[in-house]
Amino acid sequence: MSEEKKRTWHHKDLLDVDQLSTDDVGMIFEAARSLQDINSRPVKKVPTLRGRSVVLFFAEPSTRTKTSFDVAGKRLSADTFALAKSSSSLTKGETLKDTALTLQAMNPDAIVIRHWASGAAKFLAERLECSIINAGDGWHAHPTQALLDSFTLSQEWGSIDGIKGKTILILGDIAHSRVARSNVQLLTKLGAKVRLCAPRTLLPACVSDWPVTVHYDLDEAVQGVDAVMCLRLQLERQQAGLLPDLREYSVTFGLSPRHMEMAAQGARILHPGPINRGVEISSELADSAESLILDQVASGVAVRMALLYLYITCTECTQ
Ligand code: CP
Repeated sequence: MSEEKKRTWHHKDLLDVDQLSTDDVGMIFEAARSLQDINSRPVKKVPTLRGRSVVLFFAEPSTRTKTSFDVAGKRLSADTFALAKSSSSLTKGETLKDTALTLQAMNPDAIVIRHWASGAAKFLAERLECSIINAGDGWHAHPTQALLDSFTLSQEWGSIDGIKGKTILILGDIAHSRVARSNVQLLTKLGAKVRLCAPRTLLPACVSDWPVTVHYDLDEAVQGVDAVMCLRLQLERQQAGLLPDLREYSVTFGLSPRHMEMAAQGARILHPGPINRGVEISSELADSAESLILDQVASGVAVRMALLYLYITCTECTQ
């Protein structure tokens, strides 16, 4: 990244994608592209963030996000420190504010936070001097997932401009999905047309205000789409009565090879993971040539390397 471009990065925190302009997103993707080849070298380490420290504060479970931030930090030579709810003093009743101030006193350059409460990342950002990166807060936002999803599509479709004009279906448990909320914002910002498909009970009340078309019939929703993003049925966040029966859900809203025959030729399949195989997506499709699920994981490392690079060096950029 050139010095000129470094100077234009002006964000302290990443709370959601609505903070980012299309130029910002382009800059993140450019940095991710230039950093991603480190991941396929025999020696996967560069000194870019040597001496910098990143706290991974995960108060909810995670495999992909936590590991990829850890890998991303280490490949840029940052020191990463993981704090999980189960092994932290949160279990003794310490508040989020006191936990955050304690972490701040150790002077990290960035805190990556996942928390069950919507707004937790913003709460920290308003109180701490270091960069706060939202790794998922409640049902609110998952900006790094949306960025890696669009980055994956941009690679598949040639460039960030390849997303413009494409039709993308987001399918499944939208009501409980921070991934859906961030993706609707980012994909529409990048010029895609977004369709949603879900049972009425798994759509948020405010969906009529979103820049999307809403479908309740998967056969209709999938017609001609360029990509389908399946969402995990969040069984742990379901309240009683939202779904009559899991099998009925998978028959009515589970993506199967029959549906992909109705999509545009070469249509791609995404899923943020973890997958409930045979519920929201058939196992056959998850493992198919059309599936970008593991490409998303690989993109996650590159995009998170780019984010750590940009956010940790941003205080220098704005001076
Ligand atoms: N997509 C995603 O956030 O996965 P993890 O919960 O495994 O981090």
